[in-house]
Amino acid sequence: MIVFFNQQFIPKAEVRIDPDDRGFLFDDGAYEVIRCYRGKLFKADEHLARLNRSLDFLRIDLPEDVNFRVIGNRLLEENKLKDQDANIYIQVTRGSAQRKHAFPDENIPPTLYASVSSFERPVEKQKQGVKVVLVPDNRWTRCDIKSISLLPNVLANQRAKEENAEEAIFVRDDVVLEGSHSSFCGVFNNCLATAPKSNYILPGITREVVLQLCGELNITVDESPISEKRLKEADELMLLSTSLEVTPIVQVDDWNVGNGEPGAITRKLQLAFEKLIN
Ligand code: PDD
Repeated sequence: MIVFFNQQFIPKAEVRIDPDDRGFLFDDGAYEVIRCYRGKLFKADEHLARLNRSLDFLRIDLPEDVNFRVIGNRLLEENKLKDQDANIYIQVTRGSAQRKHAFPDENIPPTLYASVSSFERPVEKQKQGVKVVLVPDNRWTRCDIKSISLLPNVLANQRAKEENAEEAIFVRDDVVLEGSHSSFCGVFNNCLATAPKSNYILPGITREVVLQLCGELNITVDESPISEKRLKEADELMLLSTSLEVTPIVQVDDWNVGNGEPGAITRKLQLAFEKLIN
């Protein structure tokens, strides 16, 4: 597999990460995942704007000549993935320097990495629906930054896996926020509810697409906090993400959502999403 590493397109096996890289030592970096449908990058501008926002917050400067859209397209070509569905993974760290917590004094170049992998749409999960578990949110308070520091997300998703669930949903102060790697929404009396954008959730690109689709489909939207107590009143629940697209949730911990089957609004949104990517 050919990857992009520090301005070069090279075989993945030839990548050498310096043990002093601040990504390795401190999780000092940011990342993005962009979906490609048969060679076309989906919502690349939005993903790259979010990457820039994360890097601005971390005060990591990208070299001006780096264009991850061009790099992504070249990677699809190099790896012969132009006619398949694929994911582009992008990671930027602050670079390599002797281990000290504060930023290095000298100007060091960031470490840049991008790779592609083929990816099949999770159609079976989208048809049948999935189980999720609720977990206490023990992340930091800047969840809007797509930092590579993902330990709470890793542990939460592992817990989900051990309970035969697809995803773990973070709950903070009785508010149901988002999954370990996905956004979360529910349908209450034909109204789609999702946590408002804040420092406690990642501003999901798929979430934004779904909110736009709701506008087109005349589905009312309520961006206000969903309390854990209210969750059992939901008629439908969904996970939204670059990889999962619109995936129904049919079970939360040990109880069923609605009648235990994916609901009508979920189906409508899945159809509209499908149209969009076609
Ligand atoms: N995860 N919330 C969190 C915490 C996420 O990590 C993600 C994405 C989302 C959904 O965002 P989007 O719709 O832009 O993919 C919400 C990526 C895909 C990942 O970590 O693999």
